[in-house]
Amino acid sequence: MEKTMNVKILDVRDIAPRERHPMIFDTFKGLEPGESFILINDHAPKPLLYQFQNEHDGEFDWWPLEEGPEAWRVEIARRTEPDPDRTVTEYLQTDHRRLDGILNRFQGSVKEGRWEDASREFREFNHGLRRHIRIEESILFPAFEEKTGMHDSGPTFVMRMEHKEIHELLDSILGSADARDEAGVDEGVYAFTNVLANHNMKEENILYPESDAFLSNAERAQVVKRAQAL
Ligand SMILES: [Fe+2]
Ligand SMILES: [Fe+2]
Repeated sequence: MEKTMNVKILDVRDIAPRERHPMIFDTFKGLEPGESFILINDHAPKPLLYQFQNEHDGEFDWWPLEEGPEAWRVEIARRTEPDPDRTVTEYLQTDHRRLDGILNRFQGSVKEGRWEDASREFREFNHGLRRHIRIEESILFPAFEEKTGMHDSGPTFVMRMEHKEIHELLDSILGSADARDEAGVDEGVYAFTNVLANHNMKEENILYPESDAFLSNAERAQVVKRAQAL
């Protein structure tokens, strides 16, 4: 198996379909807690996700890096502390940290002039953060708004406005990265990280813990499952 950035890669595109799932689950079972591998497939691996949710509830994380049209890449991690009763805070905070890590690697690649790596890393970051925001806006915020009755005011209203700004800043960094403009990337990332760090802190300190407080154990687990399948 190939390795990149110390993460194993399992490309099943040339493997007979009936052999794929056993191979994937064997790879997962071989991971140490905290380790992950990247699965590459030629279609959206939804049935695989459902099998993971049924057979390894709370033991794994599922982070799509690329979703078509030609390849689907997902990072599958073994959690350090398996627990089917996950909180929204733990799940989305883990995603914030994961995304911070990709952005750091992107900045390192830009600094060293490795533009091909930088471009792949920024595409992963962009995909992951937009997906994260979709999870918040289409799954978590509606659940929060329904429980609290706060729609046009309150924390979700503010977070949705900040998401718009985050999308604009992402587009501007993407443009600089495509143009291989190091100064433009630096400037964009500087403005972006200020906005994002502040946004994430508010979510982690206020919105996520409040959501956890309003939701039952079963509802929280449902939020995580729906988010993985989005
Ligand atoms: Fe957010
Ligand atoms: Fe967030």
